[in-house]
Amino acid sequence: MEAYLHDWLSLLLRWAHFITGVAWIGASFYFNWLENHLERQQAPGGIAGDLWAVHGGGFYHLEKFEVAPETLPATLHWFKFEAYFTWITGFALLCTVYYWNAGAFLIDRSVADISGLQAIVIGLASMALSWVCYDLLCRSPLKRNGEILAALIFAWFVLLAWLLSECLSGRAAFIHVGAAIGTIMVANVFFVIIPAQKDLVAAVGENRKPDGAKGKNALLRSRHNNYFTLPVLFIMISNHYAGTYAHPWNWLVLVLISVAGVGIRHWFNIRHQPGHNRWILPMAVLLLLGLIVLMRPHELLLEPDQAGAPSSAALMPVIRERCTSCHAQNPEHPAFTTAPLGLVLESEQNLQETAARVYQSVVVTRTMPLGNLTGMTDEERNLLARWYAGLEKPR
Ligand code: HEC
Repeated sequence: MEAYLHDWLSLLLRWAHFITGVAWIGASFYFNWLENHLERQQAPGGIAGDLWAVHGGGFYHLEKFEVAPETLPATLHWFKFEAYFTWITGFALLCTVYYWNAGAFLIDRSVADISGLQAIVIGLASMALSWVCYDLLCRSPLKRNGEILAALIFAWFVLLAWLLSECLSGRAAFIHVGAAIGTIMVANVFFVIIPAQKDLVAAVGENRKPDGAKGKNALLRSRHNNYFTLPVLFIMISNHYAGTYAHPWNWLVLVLISVAGVGIRHWFNIRHQPGHNRWILPMAVLLLLGLIVLMRPHELLLEPDQAGAPSSAALMPVIRERCTSCHAQNPEHPAFTTAPLGLVLESEQNLQETAARVYQSVVVTRTMPLGNLTGMTDEERNLLARWYAGLEKPR
């Protein structure tokens, strides 16, 4: 029953997290787009520019003010709850998926032999510490030099990715880097950007000049948020791709894919500026292509030795012992009510039908058995590799 309710909880939280995240990042992309496409022209009434758009069967005409309107409108829309709810649902999802069953997804004894509680403390500390370090950097005199500041923030995340990959499962290391970035993004909205906007609105009401320092700070933080979006979105989907988080150099994979993401974002930010660097996008794409080539799985140096290759029947006892407690129609493992991803490994036929996926997860990425909870040995993995090498594969 617990596993059943756990499933529903994680489904509903993931759904809510996804919806609020789309609303938040979507609005932020939209306003970014508006800024880039505004037809700048000085117009009466302090208008900086305007634009026309057609969407959903209607025409829209938007105007942006140079500073602010003379009087505030009766209703002024804010965009902040999307961000807060993205964090709240995301944190709840992190607790549900990774902390509830720390033994399954959070720790990997082949990475570090730590307890679930220790891993949870490491995870939570990584988020809190990231915000504290980032915020201190942004408040230091370094804020006047945007490039050095960006380089230091980047260095922090490289260090964090490496540190986490040394103590948590690859999958949990990735998600915690994402959670740390997400925490910074939301804290930026809560502690810096929204207070600056409140000051701006109050200034219009009180007929005074807005606090320039607050405004500058908010601009810096929202710039950072803008560059964080593509890396954070990659990390959020990375748990579907064991090839990334389970790679021996997983922290570097995360860093390089993030660099490509930041590059792509940068290209979109500057492509309307005259004389911009056109090469950023092709270079980011090249980086991704390079990764695809470098990370290709190396075929094991095993000859399909027909005599020595075990048959599927000979492999079944290993599978039953190491896999079937989870991968069954009715799993014995208390955390599951149905076979994970619908993958059942109860018969020779099941095994043969999923041979390539089984080989990939047990031998190449070693992500299965999950957290090696069933204690699969290297000899058994070798046996499975020899079985796979001996199979007749479709050409
Ligand atoms: C403790 C439970 C557990 C055990 C034991 C276990 N698995 Fe899994 N397996 C899972 C879960 C959970 C997932 C889904 C992971 C996800 O959501 O990405 C999974 C996913 C998989 C996948 C799909 C991966 C993909 O992306 O296509 C394969 C293949 C797999 N397991 C094979 C095995 C094999 C082979 C064994 C035994 C050597 C095994 N598993 C043992 C829980 C387990």
